[in-house]
Amino acid sequence: MRYSKHIFICTNERAPDHPRGSCKNCGSEGLRAQFKQALKERRLHGTMRANSAGCLDACEYGAAMVVYPDNVWYGGVTLGDIDEIIESHLIGGQPVQRLRIPNKRYTPESELPAELQTELPLEAEQLPNNNQP
Ligand code: FES
Repeated sequence: MRYSKHIFICTNERAPDHPRGSCKNCGSEGLRAQFKQALKERRLHGTMRANSAGCLDACEYGAAMVVYPDNVWYGGVTLGDIDEIIESHLIGGQPVQRLRIPNKRYTPESELPAELQTELPLEAEQLPNNNQP
């Protein structure tokens, strides 16, 4: 495996009035840049990589990102969360629970703290605005 952790940060942009919103409008370009810098400062950039990504279909939780191979999805991420994600999750192996997307499509219910568990539908077609580009 080329990278021990591969982080994909959605930098998709839509018009500001688009009903789904977009991660770029939530500051994801800055997130990606700071994530890369923070990995470099810790000399982790050879084994961990933060890439920009197109829409991850988690728009309502932007700014959204996913960490592979862990399949851990984060939403509502801000610049102030980056160090915690790196230290706790990428280095320490403990995902940052408060940032995990509280939806069973992205996070198994068994991995969410009770206060974040929701009863949202599992079927993508049941989600609002799912068919919009
Ligand atoms: S715009 Fe970021 S997940 Fe869709």
